[in-house]
Amino acid sequence: MKTQDTFKKIISHCKEYGYIFQSSEIYDGLSAVYDYGPYGAELKKNIKDYWWAAMVKLHENIVGIDTAIFMHPKIWKASGHVDAFNDPLVDNKDSKKRYRADTLIEDYIANKIDKKINKEIEKARKRFGDAFDEQQYRETNPRVAANIAKRKDIMDAFTKAMEAGDMEALKAVIVDNEIVDPETGSKNWTDVRQFNLMFATKMGAVAEGADTIYLRPETAQGIFVNFLNVQKTSRQKIPFGIAQIGKAFRNEIVARQFIFRMREFEQMEMQFFVRPGTEMEWYHKWKETRMKWHRTMFPEAKLRFHDHDNLAHYANAAADVEFEFPFGFKELEGIHSRTDFDLKAHQDLSGKKLQYFDPEIDDSYIPYVVETSIGVDRMFLATISNALVDEEVPDSKGGTATRTVLKIHPALCPVKVAILPLVKTDEKLTTKAREIFNQIKFAHNCQYDEKDAIGRRYRRQDAIGTPYCVTVDGQTIEDNTVTLRERDSMEQIRIAIDELESHIAAKLDFRTLLS
Ligand code: GAP
Repeated sequence: MKTQDTFKKIISHCKEYGYIFQSSEIYDGLSAVYDYGPYGAELKKNIKDYWWAAMVKLHENIVGIDTAIFMHPKIWKASGHVDAFNDPLVDNKDSKKRYRADTLIEDYIANKIDKKINKEIEKARKRFGDAFDEQQYRETNPRVAANIAKRKDIMDAFTKAMEAGDMEALKAVIVDNEIVDPETGSKNWTDVRQFNLMFATKMGAVAEGADTIYLRPETAQGIFVNFLNVQKTSRQKIPFGIAQIGKAFRNEIVARQFIFRMREFEQMEMQFFVRPGTEMEWYHKWKETRMKWHRTMFPEAKLRFHDHDNLAHYANAAADVEFEFPFGFKELEGIHSRTDFDLKAHQDLSGKKLQYFDPEIDDSYIPYVVETSIGVDRMFLATISNALVDEEVPDSKGGTATRTVLKIHPALCPVKVAILPLVKTDEKLTTKAREIFNQIKFAHNCQYDEKDAIGRRYRRQDAIGTPYCVTVDGQTIEDNTVTLRERDSMEQIRIAIDELESHIAAKLDFRTLLS
């Protein structure tokens, strides 16, 4: 299936099975804002619980908080967001499409230059076999070397323009390299201009006399300004972390990729406070720890690091964990070494000391910070993209049929067990099935379903991603056993009702992922 088709299938599956709806759909929708349906809300909650378990529960030195979305406007001045939280925006005059200039350039490098380099290298690798020396080939093959040099020139000009905030130079990179509108091929660009991504509103009864405040564009600042409150009340010693899950808002210029880039989204962020000078050690540790977490859910081939050349105004090192979405490898999580930028800026602007007294070295300092920051919605999209498959299965007539199944890890699935009476017209079966439902529902998220033939109900549960189906039939009434069907293998076993809960419990526990 083409990547575009795969992505469309994911979007329509999410809608059809109650995972995600367009916000305000009956009013034709609100761009880049989405609502989570019954299964989506459960999956989202499980993703957040899993992150919280891995970060807060498993680390004695990480505590969680929940801060307000509205904060004092000076916070965004100190953090640099008022002056520097901008994206460079460019319009194509022919297509009237709007793009981020930096993304246009990055995509050009990835799709036009890197692809050419990699294609040549793979061809040569096949030709030379074991004797192939990639490094030597990169340096000596004229076509590859020329493309590497061209890449470097573009990157240098691009990085310089971004660092200087020079929009004319950024436009020159686009024009000089004849970068085209990816949808129409047009080269007719407007000037590049800066666009601040924060949403502003007014706080106070009378709008004219009210203060402008911002909807937070990241949850991190709520952690920074509470750093000493939390450190003192939780009696943590450096190194320690503060974690938070919450909504963030950005007026994104280009938001065309479903829940990948939204204007209202949710973040799971952790700021780890360390002694100055030790931040690189912690930065590398957190890179590895976070990658391990992702590997518990996704195959290694779909994950990679991308180390940043262009650093944000607050960072001295940064990397993304990228996931292979249907539209290519893209950022899923950011890991940043944020130095003491934020605490220092808040200390300067507020006039309140944000220092830590370190008893081990008998000295006070502003801690350095390593941040891990992941979008819940992006994690959700990665989970669904990784899980949705169409597969051939044997049908009841000895042939094959296609089933659509969401192979989400059982611990994260929205519904854990479906309880299905074989036929709905037999009251003994429905009563027994309800009894089992009422017993299991205290431990796991269950669903009772008696509508349609049993085969169709299995298919529906596969599409929702339910790992277990329990079928209640005539034999159940005689010997208190049920059929337990496992989603991925479709294997069915006969099991006593008394053993049901403990049999499935292990696979549904986060511990199967975390250990
Ligand atoms: N506190 C640092 C920070 O916010 P970021 O790289 O801008 O860093 C962190 O964002 C993560 O938040 C990203 O890796 C992504 O998963 C998620 N994210 C950012 N903008 C988003 C958007 N518009 N829609 C959905 N998720 C977004």
